[in-house]
Amino acid sequence: MSNRILILYAGKYGCTEKAAMQLQSRLDGAEVVNLRYAKVPELAAYDTVILGGSIYYGRIRKEMAVFTAKHKQELLKKRLGLFICAGMSGEKGEQELKQAYPEIIYNKALAKEVMGDEIYPDRISLLDKWVLRMVKGKGHKTGSGLSQDKLERFAFAMSAGE
Ligand SMILES: Cc1cc2nc3c(=O)[nH]c(=O)nc-3n(C[C@H](O)[C@H](O)[C@H](O)COP(=O)(O)O)c2cc1C
Repeated sequence: MSNRILILYAGKYGCTEKAAMQLQSRLDGAEVVNLRYAKVPELAAYDTVILGGSIYYGRIRKEMAVFTAKHKQELLKKRLGLFICAGMSGEKGEQELKQAYPEIIYNKALAKEVMGDEIYPDRISLLDKWVLRMVKGKGHKTGSGLSQDKLERFAFAMSAGE
C-alpha cells in the first residue's frame, strides 16, 4: 500500500520545526512544509497528513488554525496525525492539544501528541521571554525538551500501513 506523507508545521522559534524534521527522519520519503513561508502542495497527492504547531497564549499558531479551518473537509479524507509543541504538559497540555485543532479533525486523528518544548534564549524576544517566565516559572530556561519516545511512537503510528 502506498503511503505518501506530508508534514505541515507552524512555529515561531524553531521547536516545532525541529519536531517536524525529527518526524521526517523517521518516516521514509515524507515531505515537510513550513506553513508560514512555503506554498502548500495539493493535498490530493498524499495519503497521510501530519499537522504540527506551537502554542502561544493557549492557542495554536494562527497559520495552522487558518489552514485547518480552510481545508477541514479535505483533511478528513486523510490518515491524520496531530501534534503540538507546548510548555504545558500533563492534563493542561492535553487540553491545549484538543483545542488546537477543529474537533472533527481531532477526533479522526490516528496519533495525537504533546511533544514537549524547547526554548532558545538567543532567539526569543524580550517580551516573549518575560511572558514565558510567567507561564513556566523562573527555573525553566531551556524547556523540557522534545520527547523522543513520543516522536518515535507518533512516527510508528503514521507509518503503519506502508
Ligand atoms: C510568549 C509565549 C507564550 C507561550 N504560551 C504558552 C501557552 O499558553 N501554553 C503552553 O503550553 N506553552 C506556551 N509557550 C511555550 C511554547 O509553546 C514552547 O516554547 C514551544 O516549544 C515553542 O515552539 P516554537 O519555537 O516552534 O514556536 C509560550 C511561549 C512563549 C514564548
